[in-house]
Amino acid sequence: MRLSLSVSIVVAERSSTDISRFLKSKSIRWVGPGPPIFFFSHRERMIRLYYGSDTQKTHHVVQNVLLPILERQRVHVKDKVIAELTDDDWTGHEVFILGVPTWYYGELQSDWEAHFEHFKTLDFSGKTVALFGLGDQWGYDEWFIDGVGILAEALLDSGATLIGAWPREGYDFQKSRALKNDSEFYGLALDEDNQYELTQERCERWVQLVLSELNATGHPVSLKSTVVHTIWEN
Ligand SMILES: Cc1cc2nc3c(=O)[nH]c(=O)nc-3n(C[C@H](O)[C@H](O)[C@H](O)COP(=O)(O)O)c2cc1C
Repeated sequence: MRLSLSVSIVVAERSSTDISRFLKSKSIRWVGPGPPIFFFSHRERMIRLYYGSDTQKTHHVVQNVLLPILERQRVHVKDKVIAELTDDDWTGHEVFILGVPTWYYGELQSDWEAHFEHFKTLDFSGKTVALFGLGDQWGYDEWFIDGVGILAEALLDSGATLIGAWPREGYDFQKSRALKNDSEFYGLALDEDNQYELTQERCERWVQLVLSELNATGHPVSLKSTVVHTIWEN
């Protein structure tokens, strides 16, 4: 006899392990010759997007550019400003986008600065982080988006996997601590002071890059209302 049963469960932020546990807790048991097959129509895990902003330029980019792009992709994101973070916002999450503007000749933005000593004590092993930074490549051409470099160095020391490296081409500056090598920054470089007209397109391309790298590194992100189809066959 051949019996085919199809079940759809709408979930958010659930993994196949969670689903297995859930089925077990309900005494739903598969007794067929092979294992049940889970088809995830989409991805797992929510992105946490944290940022600081002194003169609201980063805030503007997050709220009016990055979040709408992620929303269009139906990516599940929770955004928060650095000043409001608690330990729970770091622990128990695996995928982060962090935004930092650079201030006062290569310093972190004020909320990041205040949070930084604690930030350095966090364990980022197993976590994946994409960085973006705002700066002024002409006014501060020896410190262009240095804040991205400061965070990248701390994150690498804490075991993080960094994704979203961005080409250096298209910028004009002398020095940057955010350079990963001769041709790439550790993360997305935005310049609302001199190249605001490029911000939208840069963000569009960078989000695509980040999402594809998350998939490739085994950290797919959750889309809103993920549908899980479980098909059991005998
Ligand atoms: C006093 C001052 C110092 C700055 N220092 C730097 C710097 O060292 N490196 C840099 O890339 N940008 C620097 N900037 C530019 C800011 O990073 C840029 O304007 C950014 O968009 C501000 O973002 P926020 O409004 O989100 O804080 C500086 C701007 C000001 C006004």
